[in-house]
Amino acid sequence: MWPRMNPALTPITSRGGRDLPTGYSLLTNSLLNKGTGFRDAERDGLGVRGLVPPRIFPIEQQSKRAMGNLRRKGKDIDKYIFLSGLQNRNETLYYRLLLDYLEELMPIVYTPTVGQACLEYGAIFRRPRGLWISIKDRGRIAGILRNWPRQDVRLIVVTDGERILGLGDLGALGMGIPIGKLSLYTACAGLHPYYCLPITLDVGTGNKDLLEDDLYIGLDQPRVRGGEYEAFIEEFVQAVQETYPRCLLQWEDFGNHNAFQLLGKYRERICSFNDDIQGTASVALAGLIAASRKTGTELRDQKLLFLGAGEAATGIGELFVAALKEEGIPEDEARARCWFVDSKGLVVASRTDLQDHKKPFAHEGKPVNTLLEAIEAVRPTALIGASGVGGAFNQEIVEAMTALNPEPVVFALSNPTSKSECTAQQAYAWSRGKAIFASGSPFQPVEYDGRTLVPGQGNNVYIFPGVGLGVLSCSGSLVTDAMFLAAARTLASMVTDEELASGRVFPSFQGIREVSLQIALAVARIAYADGLARAPEPADLEADIRSRMFEPVYQDYV
Ligand code: NAI
Repeated sequence: MWPRMNPALTPITSRGGRDLPTGYSLLTNSLLNKGTGFRDAERDGLGVRGLVPPRIFPIEQQSKRAMGNLRRKGKDIDKYIFLSGLQNRNETLYYRLLLDYLEELMPIVYTPTVGQACLEYGAIFRRPRGLWISIKDRGRIAGILRNWPRQDVRLIVVTDGERILGLGDLGALGMGIPIGKLSLYTACAGLHPYYCLPITLDVGTGNKDLLEDDLYIGLDQPRVRGGEYEAFIEEFVQAVQETYPRCLLQWEDFGNHNAFQLLGKYRERICSFNDDIQGTASVALAGLIAASRKTGTELRDQKLLFLGAGEAATGIGELFVAALKEEGIPEDEARARCWFVDSKGLVVASRTDLQDHKKPFAHEGKPVNTLLEAIEAVRPTALIGASGVGGAFNQEIVEAMTALNPEPVVFALSNPTSKSECTAQQAYAWSRGKAIFASGSPFQPVEYDGRTLVPGQGNNVYIFPGVGLGVLSCSGSLVTDAMFLAAARTLASMVTDEELASGRVFPSFQGIREVSLQIALAVARIAYADGLARAPEPADLEADIRSRMFEPVYQDYV
């Protein structure tokens, strides 16, 4: 378990009671700086007087002022740069701001603006935040991990930059993603920023434009694959275990093949998970459970047809099967309720071109080429898009789903907005207001036939921060599917009846910290029950987890 106080203070006080950094050094320590928030006694006692303007401001007012400054920026990318600057100066205020204006700032800190930030990462890079470890560092990775200034790391988000959002291979520019994800862990679940470390593994890039750009910040070589890549990852994993033995490792935005391979190889060995596969699965399953609640049916009554059969789609399929198995349905029956269409058509047993992760879902059936034919053949209750093909759910498709179902479930999960399989407006208009719609990217509420319909955003941020908090709060040794199942059920149970009636299948973002806490609790309970917790179980688990959540308020130093 981690201490309740600001851990940035722990190494200082444990070094034989040495004082806080003072004066200018204190102002440049982002975890301790308060800017104009230093009180009189601190200004005198810590040598800050004169280095900040005379008037003292509480954090609430600092947050208001910062938001005013941010709103004056015209472009979202400038807002992103402003926020990064604030994060580097004063992390407490940065998180105060995120929490005060979460819905407005989430699309800046994460998708879609973070995608633009990655594309421009070489140009907007100001101060180090996170580690780049390149394939040329083989043999010395543990040493590089020790260069990180904070000694007790509990949470690493790592990418190799090969599949950044829907933008493809951005190599070393992918760093924006682990940084953004970790910000969301702190904002949404109260993981203290001290414990978080973003890492980008640079094994080269397959992106020709980057290789031809002489200002590209990553390794100037084609992406390494095969045995050399695997040995590099293995050294990285061992170095992490040796340096930070209590750490949770989140694999993020790896290319399709490596993502499945790394998850399969390490999920039983170290405390790790893949958010693109398991986090997406959990949030989508929560949406399906909530949709079933709305239609008065059971999850087992759903028949799913996916467009796309990659990390996101088959991850959802696998977790759906696990959920039905938990309800006592035999695995083959559960699998028979999941069908997939990939770029070559319906995934059926007679196809010889299927990758391993698709094979468990290749049922007996006539090969068909188009999505419309697949809908007619499968007769699904729910259509789930995770294909990255913008506009793939056209009027004909949504109408076909509406002809089959009184309230068709239509989830268009592909990001960014331009890749969404359809918009909220289209889903509601083409289904005559009947669709239960959710998307990966945010859409505004839609007025239809005198009603306001509110689309749900199936954002993984509902899931991964709570799962991480739960695993870390009990010092979990592994992250299991049972935990993602519990997270999905918890999330679905937190959608109110009013929210369901308005069309939402996910709760409002305003309550995200409570959602994360409840998910953490469910996850930690599973860890204790399954013998996966390394910390002793506290008498009041909920109170204990709550008390360790980071709150962006200033601690008194003097
Ligand atoms: P992936 O590359 O692993 O899978 C894409 C799949 O789509 C492949 O099976 C491919 O065959 C299929 N596909 C491509 N073109 C197609 C076409 N014309 N017709 C039918 N299928 C086609 O990618 P991944 O990670 O599964 O992501 C897919 C999409 O889901 C992305 O846009 C991503 O942004 C989104 N996503 C959304 C999340 C969320 O909303 N919470 C989380 C993770 C991913």
